[in-house]
Amino acid sequence: MTGLNFEGRIAVISGGCGGIGRAVRERLVAGGAKVLVWDVADEADERVDLTDETAVDEAMARLLARHGRIDVLVNAAGITGPTVNIEQYSLADWRRVLDVNLTSTFLCCKAAITPMRQQNGGRIVNLASIAGKEGNASMTGYSAAKAGVIALTKSLGKELAGTEIRVNAIAPAVIATDLVKQMTEEAYRNVLAKIPLGRAGLPKEVAALVAWLASDECSFSTGAVFDLSGGRATY
Ligand SMILES: NC(=O)c1ccc[n+]([C@@H]2O[C@H](COP(=O)([O-])OP(=O)(O)OC[C@H]3O[C@@H](n4cnc5c(N)ncnc54)[C@H](O)[C@@H]3O)[C@@H](O)[C@H]2O)c1
Repeated sequence: MTGLNFEGRIAVISGGCGGIGRAVRERLVAGGAKVLVWDVADEADERVDLTDETAVDEAMARLLARHGRIDVLVNAAGITGPTVNIEQYSLADWRRVLDVNLTSTFLCCKAAITPMRQQNGGRIVNLASIAGKEGNASMTGYSAAKAGVIALTKSLGKELAGTEIRVNAIAPAVIATDLVKQMTEEAYRNVLAKIPLGRAGLPKEVAALVAWLASDECSFSTGAVFDLSGGRATY
């Protein structure tokens, strides 16, 4: 999948300072895109708390004032939250995990749809997780949030099917980034053991699929969930 062309395209990667977001940025820039990263981290192009509707809307307004359009939105913000049984899972953690993983995706999609409709074109790629399809033990919040991202993607794909906007999700198994350091050693060993290829995926392997889903080449897929799980997902 080399040679995807993003010349003249404006792309936003929300949560783009993380391991996957950085690899996606590299890939889109290599194809000629102008990429803007929204993240709470210092290295972001725009420091945006993606759980805050006003902050997201203002970031979109600044982007449109400067660049006039948004062609690609990749939603890559996430936290795993605690790895604990539900009796120990606090409501505050539950809300935070849903906010960062799911509400941020909702808000960024919502902000991008108006300009994408006006252009009658765009690509949205949401980072879900295999946890959202299978449910990871002791990660109820993360699993529920990612299941929500999958359902949001399916719903939005249908809602926008009469347009040239395509909305898809990726459901990776373990990818070697800092995110997995939030899990307990035991939980990490357990999810790694489920991968037939016997290793974690690499951020560049996620970026290759994101790039295709963000490109014009992806024209007949929408509301779909693409596995990237080293053989773990078989359905
Ligand atoms: N790494 C994996 O094993 C894996 C597997 C499946 C799915 N995913 C998903 O892929 C996406 C990217 O994961 P990653 O591995 O790059 O994680 P990461 O921890 O390296 O990066 C996540 C980024 O989200 C940002 N972020 C968190 N809260 C934010 C907020 N409120 N506002 C703005 N930015 C915020 C962080 O600052 C960070 O830069 C996430 O949605 C994650 O759930 C990751």
